[in-house]
Amino acid sequence: MNALTEKVSLSKEVDMENFWMPFTANKQFKAAPRILKSAKGMYFTTIDDKKVLDASSGLWCVNAGHGREEIIEAVHKQMMELDYAPPFQMAHPVAFEAAKAIAAVMPAGLDRIFFANSGSEAVDTALKIALAYHRARGDGQRTRLIGRERGYSGVGFGGISVGGILANRKAYSGALIPGVDHISHTHNLAEMAFSKGQPAWGAHLADDLERLCALHDPSTIAAVIVEPVAGSTGVLVPPQGYLQRLREICTKHGILLIFDEVITGFGRLGKATASELLGVTPDIITMAKAMNNAAIPMSGVAASRHVHDAIVNAGPGTAIEFFHGYTYSAHPAAAAACLATQEIYRKEKLFDRSLSLAPKFEKEIHALRGEPFVKDIRNLGLMGAVELESRDGAPGARAYDVFLKCLEKGVLARFTGDIMTFSPPLIVSEGQIEEIFSTVRKALHETA
Ligand SMILES: Cc1ncc(COP(=O)(O)O)c(C=O)c1O
Repeated sequence: MNALTEKVSLSKEVDMENFWMPFTANKQFKAAPRILKSAKGMYFTTIDDKKVLDASSGLWCVNAGHGREEIIEAVHKQMMELDYAPPFQMAHPVAFEAAKAIAAVMPAGLDRIFFANSGSEAVDTALKIALAYHRARGDGQRTRLIGRERGYSGVGFGGISVGGILANRKAYSGALIPGVDHISHTHNLAEMAFSKGQPAWGAHLADDLERLCALHDPSTIAAVIVEPVAGSTGVLVPPQGYLQRLREICTKHGILLIFDEVITGFGRLGKATASELLGVTPDIITMAKAMNNAAIPMSGVAASRHVHDAIVNAGPGTAIEFFHGYTYSAHPAAAAACLATQEIYRKEKLFDRSLSLAPKFEKEIHALRGEPFVKDIRNLGLMGAVELESRDGAPGARAYDVFLKCLEKGVLARFTGDIMTFSPPLIVSEGQIEEIFSTVRKALHETA
């Protein structure tokens, strides 16, 4: 049991058996639980009253910081007025307002917004839109979807099929969507270790899509989906020119390009989207996490007009054009939280703030070079990773120890395998950025 949790007596007060925790080592966790009871601004408070600096924006999602009263009040007001309205064949005003607010920050032309409730649902929605688009245009033989190795696109069957995280796929391998293929990932330490921002090497890796076009014939391919910066696998920043090249190949072959911006959206990289920062416009963008500061589950898909119009204009005008949607699509509370969140981003210029803090973040994270076990450091915007040497025969164990040590010292980071990842809320101060990485340094020195 670690120091943070030894005083926690939650297991005596609350039976922990029933909650089957997601993406968690349940037995290990319940033997030494890590429980958060409240949050404000940059900090969580644990059940034993310790303040913990949030270096992860929760799960890359609380970009405006915790406990924002404007959002809480907007949700409360909305719930008092209209708790729920069916989104099929009916609507409520805030759904349209939220769609307008999202469209306003998407790249030009990607202004048709479909709402869902999680990143996984957004991805499955985007994949279905891509298939429906080709079919509506009489190009229905385009059924093949292309993802990327090491990609994380959520946990729906669509998402794990196009995704490239082995652990998320292997138990379900016989049930994945047929015909899906993957381009190679972009991680190559020999060529790009310790790159600051976008690696100079690797634009040619996008040509792997040409290999798949040659193998399958491009006329069978509906869409390619990639995270502009791969997040969950440990922050893989796209090489300079790579996304431009992917765009060119997709355009050449009539393939839709989907950017999964569930992590990179809403200021994480200093702009509303990675697309805007990197100057590459896809046909479809998926979003979720920071859309409404994670106050209420919400996600969305921004489709370009040509995609939307091809589907919506194909029907007679009296029939449902797209047989898809969720009971909670554009839920009034989520939509109200979204409006309030977008207003905070705008008023407080949080995307600009993120952009201006990025050099400080880069300086501090790269200052860990040379510390024990550090074999790579990468970053873009307020998103970074420190990759550690794995212990022999125990992949992931070292990063887990560093994660626990950081937590004991009052910093909540994340880890995936032996990669530590960092993505603080955009309200983080320069001093807090220093604190995050000096804590990691101490933790590394105390870790075997
Ligand atoms: C790029 C990306 N897409 C999709 C998802 C899935 O989101 P959710 O967990 O809300 O289903 C995630 C979650 O981390 C993600 O990072």
